[in-house]
Amino acid sequence: MSSKTIGPAKAVQGSVFVPGDKSISHRAVILGALSNRTCSVKNFLEAEDCLCTLEAIRAMGIKIDREGPALEIHGKGLDGLKAPAKPIWCGNSGTMTRLLMGVLTGQPFEVRLEGDASLSKRPMDRVIEPLSKMGAFFLDVKEAPAHLPLRMRGTRDVKSLYWKSPVASAQVKSAILLAGLYASGTTTVQEPSLSRDHTERMLRANGVVVDSEGNKISVQGTATVRASAFQVPGDLSSAAFLLAAGLLRANGEFIVKSVGVNPTRTGFMDLIKAMGGACRLLNATESGGEPVADIGVKKSDLKGVKAGGDIIPRAIDEIPIWAVLATQATGQTILSDAQELRVKESDRLQTVREELTKMGARIVEKPDGLVIQGPTPLKGAVVRSHGDHRLAMALAVAALVAEGPTTIEDVECVATSFPGFWTLLDSIRVKA
Ligand code: S3P
Repeated sequence: MSSKTIGPAKAVQGSVFVPGDKSISHRAVILGALSNRTCSVKNFLEAEDCLCTLEAIRAMGIKIDREGPALEIHGKGLDGLKAPAKPIWCGNSGTMTRLLMGVLTGQPFEVRLEGDASLSKRPMDRVIEPLSKMGAFFLDVKEAPAHLPLRMRGTRDVKSLYWKSPVASAQVKSAILLAGLYASGTTTVQEPSLSRDHTERMLRANGVVVDSEGNKISVQGTATVRASAFQVPGDLSSAAFLLAAGLLRANGEFIVKSVGVNPTRTGFMDLIKAMGGACRLLNATESGGEPVADIGVKKSDLKGVKAGGDIIPRAIDEIPIWAVLATQATGQTILSDAQELRVKESDRLQTVREELTKMGARIVEKPDGLVIQGPTPLKGAVVRSHGDHRLAMALAVAALVAEGPTTIEDVECVATSFPGFWTLLDSIRVKA
């Protein structure tokens, strides 16, 4: 287990790029494999999570040429996958697992899915239930809650479904929509609030009929997914760590360039603006059906806010770093409706509270959220990631504003989403 020691920063400065979006990279490989010809992907995220998806698709008989972040995926159509020779390794990735389960619902062969210790604790009932209704058969699942490892067998006779999902989860929605490609007729997912819509956008870009009506999304079963070219934007969830560092310590304007700013993902930006953070979009454009922009932030006096309801799914992966900002904001910050954080790569309500408390933060944990008092001077401490990449990176940013050095234990997990994070952080940091 390796650790990193980070000292305080007097300032951060620069104009940087972050690697490609994780959600879009997973989907590009999956949709590329199902499409009727060769798809090219640019700026694919070369991180462990997405590389697991790429290897799984290769193991099911799809040729993928890769030169760094550029891929050529030789799609064989909806029925072109073949049974893998070995179990599929899903690593740490809930997105890969659940999206693949959707695709496997349409495959008439058996597959075993395996993952690391964290993924093997995460709930799979949320997809097993609807996918079973569509015709998938889960062989090892006897009682809830179901976890990896598991074996499933799909069918060529997928049934369409109307699913009222109890959780606002893009992973659940996407699994059902991908299975719905194989059904005849319309498959609909209704969510309590809208989760990220990359699957819908990318399916449309590949010629599939997808209708959205508020939080109700429908896909038409189809014979063909057309090939297209995907240009993956920078990942806002990775940019968030650097933007937070900028809000706390920037010299002038600090810019992260060419980031995906899909409105179903920008809850973090709305939250920091509500806290009084100086944050603006520059050079806004569109690429591959996704809005993209440079994001500029300035050092800001932040104030505590309340966050709950529809904004939570739009900021779901940014809550750990947002909690760091809340420790530095004046007044109380109240997070609610965020119980989904308990089933992420770690129980993020618990681990964020535990680790930031070691640095002096004043945080109370609630069943569905956190109450954070600020501003609190943080002090360097020995903290640990709990194997959670986003917690490790949030703690690294907290270390920049703490007094004295902070040692973060178990930092290998950062490789699941943000290769190059430590070098980038070092490059923007002006040492105190
Ligand atoms: C993702 C959806 C989110 C998010 C995850 C990526 C996706 O999970 O936390 O990092 O790509 O669909 P849920 O939709 O299950 O909340």
